[in-house]
Amino acid sequence: MERSLVLVKPDAMQRGLASTIISRFEEVGLKLIALKMLHMDRTLAGRHYAIHKDKPFFENLITYITSSPIVAAVFEGENAVEVIRKTMGVTDPSRAETGTIRGDYGLDIERNSTHGSDSKENADGEIRLFFDESEIFA
Ligand code: RTP
Ligand code: MG
Repeated sequence: MERSLVLVKPDAMQRGLASTIISRFEEVGLKLIALKMLHMDRTLAGRHYAIHKDKPFFENLITYITSSPIVAAVFEGENAVEVIRKTMGVTDPSRAETGTIRGDYGLDIERNSTHGSDSKENADGEIRLFFDESEIFA
């Protein structure tokens, strides 16, 4: 069964949306198999977003994602990566459809409330960054 990593980002944490966002993924049939709250440091943030290290928004992204505690979760289900991306909506909340998490709660292209892995390969690596195998309850 496919797994994917979800993060509830600082903008959503600050507005009390952690459980609302986790619920959105449960409501589409995904199984919650790991959950924790943590404050990412710049090292973990740099690893998690390594693919963006040459982008102009990288420094702002690292500062933002380390600006408050976040919730990290692993969901499992058929096509979990794709289902989560659809449930989140597109990166820019102003273009995300109503009914998606980013469409309903995102503030702007950076403060877009949630992260979801973009491929099965990246999901496995991202999950390992945040969780030990013993913390995953499949
Ligand atoms: P994520 O990785 O967080 O799930 O988001 P994504 O795949 O939809 O978007 P991605 O291209 O991977 O970008 C990662 C995060 O960087 C911030 N961002 N800022 N200022 C900008 O132009 C810009 N572009 C992206 C967002 O927080 C985005 O989710
Ligand atoms: Mg991404």
